[in-house]
Amino acid sequence: MSEQRESVHGLWSSRWVFILAATGSAVGLGNIWKFPYIAGENGGGAFVLIYLLCIAVIGVPIMMAEILMGRRGRSTPINTLRHLCGEAKAHPAWQIIGWSGMLAGFLILSFYSVIAGWALSYILDSISGTFYDATAEQVGKNFSDLLASPGTLIFWHTAFMIMTMVVVARGVKNGLEKAVRILMPALLILLLVMVGYAMSMGEFMRGVEFLFKPDFGRITANGVLIAMGHAFFTLSLGMGAIMIYGAYLPNNVSIAKTSIIIALADTFVALLAGLAIFPIVFSNGLEPGAGPGLIFQTLPIAFGQMPGGIVFGTLFFILLTFAAWTSSISIIEPVITWLVENKNMSRTRACTIAGGLTWLAGLGTVLSFNVTADVKLFDKTFFDLVDYLASNIMLPLGGLLMSIFVVWVLPKVITAEELNIGQGAGFKLWFFLLKFVAPIAVIIIFLNVIGII
Ligand code: TRP
Repeated sequence: MSEQRESVHGLWSSRWVFILAATGSAVGLGNIWKFPYIAGENGGGAFVLIYLLCIAVIGVPIMMAEILMGRRGRSTPINTLRHLCGEAKAHPAWQIIGWSGMLAGFLILSFYSVIAGWALSYILDSISGTFYDATAEQVGKNFSDLLASPGTLIFWHTAFMIMTMVVVARGVKNGLEKAVRILMPALLILLLVMVGYAMSMGEFMRGVEFLFKPDFGRITANGVLIAMGHAFFTLSLGMGAIMIYGAYLPNNVSIAKTSIIIALADTFVALLAGLAIFPIVFSNGLEPGAGPGLIFQTLPIAFGQMPGGIVFGTLFFILLTFAAWTSSISIIEPVITWLVENKNMSRTRACTIAGGLTWLAGLGTVLSFNVTADVKLFDKTFFDLVDYLASNIMLPLGGLLMSIFVVWVLPKVITAEELNIGQGAGFKLWFFLLKFVAPIAVIIIFLNVIGII
């Protein structure tokens, strides 16, 4: 049973590099841009609590399952599933996990790149002193001016997509290591500085309360779905990104320990971002539910006021861009490896095609902030719809299928062998969470939002 497959794309050079790469994938716009704004839109504390719970009981077990599948299959998610179905003598239809994952990745990267473009454009704004001493209104206007200009948005979206594809074309392992080793810790330190600055604000405690004092009256069924979807999004789960990173993982590395480290680091960054942002929101009389522009309308105010703000601001948006970069790479990697393995393309060609199509789809998001802002379906713009469908529906569905696959289809000898933590309490807890808690929670949350229960 213990045949060892080899990845045609190579392996991470150590456990540490894998942790950095996976953390690089997890920590991104999801933590710093998305988490604060959806927490703000969904009432704060109760939302945050549900999100944390989802990370612990759904996210971590599914992350372990996803890495385990990837390492066992050692190839693009579709081929990994095909291989595992062979090993388990199961129906090859399970490959659907790989297919829907590629589609979800395509959709997510299409808007991710547009938002990362905002961060890029804010680097220039910071350097040029746009935010120096700026009032909340001026900062707000700067942001709405950006959104109102499709040309500018497309320019930065294009720049970011090219950056992503250049790295992916070279292979994710080359080039990623140095970036994550230095830049992720730098981002962490800068966030700590921001939180330190936020502490000096009069409204710091109001920010803390908003984030951590649950008021369950303010949470809706839809809010719960968004919290769960975000647990998947922020950990990069449910679409094969972590699976393909797992495919490059050396055999002797502990999947359980690394998953927990990654989840903790990711959560820590998101909470820091929240702590840095909400005090600014309240101190300046802004709206926590301001939407996707939240960090772009708040943080520059602080940079404009604090000593050394131009340097800190510039550095912050550079690091945010890097965080987005190390994430976007992983979003498209399953598609690239599929084109390489199954369509015999070179990585460069695969990147040109996949990147081009994703870029094109991103134009839909660009326009939804200006020209087509009023075109809505189910009360959602194109961007909202793509995000909602991919993040809140496709990722949890992918995760649900993965948990069912690992628990019911893969023989337990295989799972136990890959996980390699024996069959004691730790294994039993993981198996229980994966067998009952995670899938049932996902199903209940789905049914609840449709209104069935
Ligand atoms: N987790 C990243 C973030 O929070 C985004 C991301 C990277 C992602 N890979 C993914 C989201 C795969 C979903 C699926 O910014």
